Amino acid sequence: MNKQPETDRIIIFDTTLRDGEQCPGATLNVDEKLLIARQLARLGVDVIEAGFAFASPGDFEAVQKIAAEVGTENGPVICSLARAIKADIKAAAEAIKPAAKARIHTFISTSDIHLEYQLKKTRAEVLAIAEEMVAYAKSFMDDVEFSPMDAVRSDPEYLYQVLERAIAAGATTVNIPDTVGYTTPSEFGELIRGIKENVPNIDQAIISVHGHNDLGLAVANFLEAVKNGARQLECTINGIGERAGNASLEELVMALHVRRRYFNPYLGRSPESEVPLTNIDTRQIYKTSRLVSNLTGMLVQPNKAIVGANAFAHESGIHQDGVLKNKLTYEIMDAQSIGLTDNQIVLGKHSGRNAFRTRLKELGFELSETDLNKAFVRFKEVADKKKEITDWDLEALVNDEIQQA
Ligand code: KIV
Ligand code: ZN
Repeated sequence: MNKQPETDRIIIFDTTLRDGEQCPGATLNVDEKLLIARQLARLGVDVIEAGFAFASPGDFEAVQKIAAEVGTENGPVICSLARAIKADIKAAAEAIKPAAKARIHTFISTSDIHLEYQLKKTRAEVLAIAEEMVAYAKSFMDDVEFSPMDAVRSDPEYLYQVLERAIAAGATTVNIPDTVGYTTPSEFGELIRGIKENVPNIDQAIISVHGHNDLGLAVANFLEAVKNGARQLECTINGIGERAGNASLEELVMALHVRRRYFNPYLGRSPESEVPLTNIDTRQIYKTSRLVSNLTGMLVQPNKAIVGANAFAHESGIHQDGVLKNKLTYEIMDAQSIGLTDNQIVLGKHSGRNAFRTRLKELGFELSETDLNKAFVRFKEVADKKKEITDWDLEALVNDEIQQA
């Protein structure tokens, strides 16, 4: 029996490059994926789901390159998704082979609605496939994750059976997906508790959660899951992903960080413990958010929690007065804790090159001296026509300059 070590931290499994890329219009090329993967490693994510190796030759190449370049001994685990089909699992195993730490993530649906209309299989058939394909994945490597897709809409009794058999076949992580973003926090918490209580060998696997944001509840659902025993969270930068997106990494990590005293006891710690709940370097959050937004073309709404342009801006006189006297009056976290500088530099026609370069760096742009000079000339032209140059202006301006080059 390969008993999983108890984790004293919450494992952050980033799926920006797999589920995040399933967001309409967000496709990335191999070089862009590598840039993001390197930044995810700097951010400190524990697992990078680098893609779906079987999906296309481009995906295979991206997963393989990320495995080779980012999957170092001290780096994150590199994972590839695979349907519960031999050809998929084989391709995943091949693509992630260069990584020092590699994981196959295989899945099959377990809800009756998926079984009847999509898979056209019986419960017994799916149970057998799950068991057989986990065992097949296990023949390539020890680290195997299994997901019963649409778990939230599956019959819990059947779900418990599938999970038990998957763990017996070698799954070291069992992931519980809310594939259609349907559940609510207390319901999801109960499901995780039910799994802990009714799957006899559950102690041999880490419980993971995966969820979509169709009702805007993904992050709240995950936090309730943590309180009930989930120890891996599958999430994406800026919450990008299929339809309304996935649970957002920055919101989860900062909720666990800011409210650590509340969550500590659920991880068996004293409420006062200052040991971080995740391995994330929160100061890398803003930079990562900008990079993903720039490369995917998915804009971040200004009022988005944590990384939106207004997240640390104070507009009303009363709030401004309060924060000038003591920031704690209206701020629950420091701008610096996510990698922003405290003072907001307003860029205009009187700004110099240094301020321009600094702001670009904060937005995730590291330009060569030549590109910077070109962008600076253009910036001055735009600044002559506008009172204030916003971050959106800067991004458009740099993208134009880089694209023209
Ligand atoms: O949403 C989902 O169910 C998934 C699985 C493949 C984990 O993305
Ligand atoms: Zn998903």
